[in-house]
Amino acid sequence: MATTIAVLSQKGGTGKTTVVRTLADVMERVGVTTLAVDLDPQGNLSDYRDVPPDAEPTIADVLAGRAPLVQAIHGDGTIVPANLSLAETELALGGKMGRELTLRKALAEIPERYQLVLLDCPPSLGLLTVNALAAADYALLTAQAQYFALQGLEQAMEVVELAHGSLNSGLELLGVVLNLADMRTVHSREALEALKEHFGEKVFQAVIRASIAYAESAERAVSILDFRPDLATDYLALAEEVLGRLPGFELAQERLWQLT
Ligand SMILES: Nc1ncnc2c1ncn2[C@@H]1O[C@H](COP(=O)(O)OP(=O)(O)O)[C@@H](O)[C@H]1O
Ligand SMILES: [Mg+2]
Repeated sequence: MATTIAVLSQKGGTGKTTVVRTLADVMERVGVTTLAVDLDPQGNLSDYRDVPPDAEPTIADVLAGRAPLVQAIHGDGTIVPANLSLAETELALGGKMGRELTLRKALAEIPERYQLVLLDCPPSLGLLTVNALAAADYALLTAQAQYFALQGLEQAMEVVELAHGSLNSGLELLGVVLNLADMRTVHSREALEALKEHFGEKVFQAVIRASIAYAESAERAVSILDFRPDLATDYLALAEEVLGRLPGFELAQERLWQLT
């Protein structure tokens, strides 16, 4: 059974998609077979993986019961894409029985070869994010280094706790990552301190520095690992902590040490 991580936040622009794509890049390099699932109708992750916008079937077809999950795996077995049709599917799903558990049922069919599944949530805490939390073993929260970060995180944590309480008792908080940070500023340092006060050990030591290189590399569909290896050390450190918090990934963690 693959380990599933939902990457979420209460809003857009906190770096969810970048976390998913870059962790997937690192995992691939340390031999962890990873499937990324795009749950955002904007399809940013799918664009990055160079999946054409009209590729079919997508996660929307899977959630609507029109296609089995295995058929919706594109990009050389790396991604289940999304496009705007997912917005419509989310609306339709809202009226159905078992609407929160649709993704979980679909993911039960993930082929054995996958060790890790990363769910890229949309920029809201609606039904798609709830589906991700119902299907996941772990929640990974992303926070942008700014004053209201904590408030957004509290809202995200409430939804995680609700999902844990009523849909998925196996769900655990994997951690909170501070993203788009500039630790030379008081602003970012205060944001990190606030996170640590609130989430303690759950805050990853690795902080992702802000750099325009992320947008540039996404546009070129190049991994930040190749585009800016100097910055990518942030993500190698994050991946190391992530692997360290997951049972059964010791070998991958050793391989990652050899990379760094
Ligand atoms: N560490 C970073 N520094 C600067 N910009 C970043 C960083 N990480 C991501 N970005 C950029 O910020 C924007 C939002 O990131 P994205 O990962 O799409 O967030 P989300 O999925 O939460 O909406 C994108 O243009 C992305 O390229
Ligand atoms: Mg996104």
